[in-house]
Amino acid sequence: MPSTDRPAPRPVSVSCVEMTQLVLPPDTNQHGSIFGGRVLQWIDIAGAIAAQRHSRRKVVTASMDEMHFLVPIKLAEVVILRACVNFVSRTSMEVGVRVEREVPSTGERFHAATAYLTFVCLDDDGKPTPAPLLELQTDLERRRFREAEMRRATRLAHRDALKALRGGEG
Ligand SMILES: CC(C)(COP(=O)(O)OP(=O)(O)OC[C@H]1O[C@@H](n2cnc3c(N)ncnc32)[C@H](O)[C@@H]1OP(=O)(O)O)[C@@H](O)C(=O)NCCC(=O)NCCS
Repeated sequence: MPSTDRPAPRPVSVSCVEMTQLVLPPDTNQHGSIFGGRVLQWIDIAGAIAAQRHSRRKVVTASMDEMHFLVPIKLAEVVILRACVNFVSRTSMEVGVRVEREVPSTGERFHAATAYLTFVCLDDDGKPTPAPLLELQTDLERRRFREAEMRRATRLAHRDALKALRGGEG
């Protein structure tokens, strides 16, 4: 029987993660820039840690929204990933991850990508279980929450439209 009790709300700051990676040869392609898949892996890890910190539960990635790589990231550059929980529904949480490229010789940073992932909180039997609500403390957190709420509505509408098109099948 899935659990229904919701733990006490937690501030956004509890979940925030900063992860720093150095781009090494195995992370790059034949052009000397990073594999998109490696960036996705790091995004997934940073996002999962944020969701885990918020819920103090096991979490699984349910989805990652469409994302765009804005600038190439080169061998020997530094990648900084910042992740925080933006929004909590019942058992699912949206985590936003901002990726920056840092040039070691100058310290300059460039926005490289932003990703939005949905993680689902699981109980000890591996069933979805309620996640703590978010305690929103700043205007930025409130704005991110509202935007995430809109993205969730869009995601669900998209999923339902596809399902209807396929005659109700997953
Ligand atoms: C994610 C998963 C646990 C959802 O299980 P489910 O039986 O569909 O559970 P429910 O229908 O009760 O949905 C649970 C929550 O997940 C959300 N969810 C389910 N599928 C989703 C999707 N594709 N994208 C975003 N959210 C999704 C639901 O909206 C719901 O959120 P809410 O409780 O906050 O309203 C299940 O699909 C799963 O285990 N998927 C594989 C996850 C995995 O292995 N990830 C690793 C990468 S492959």
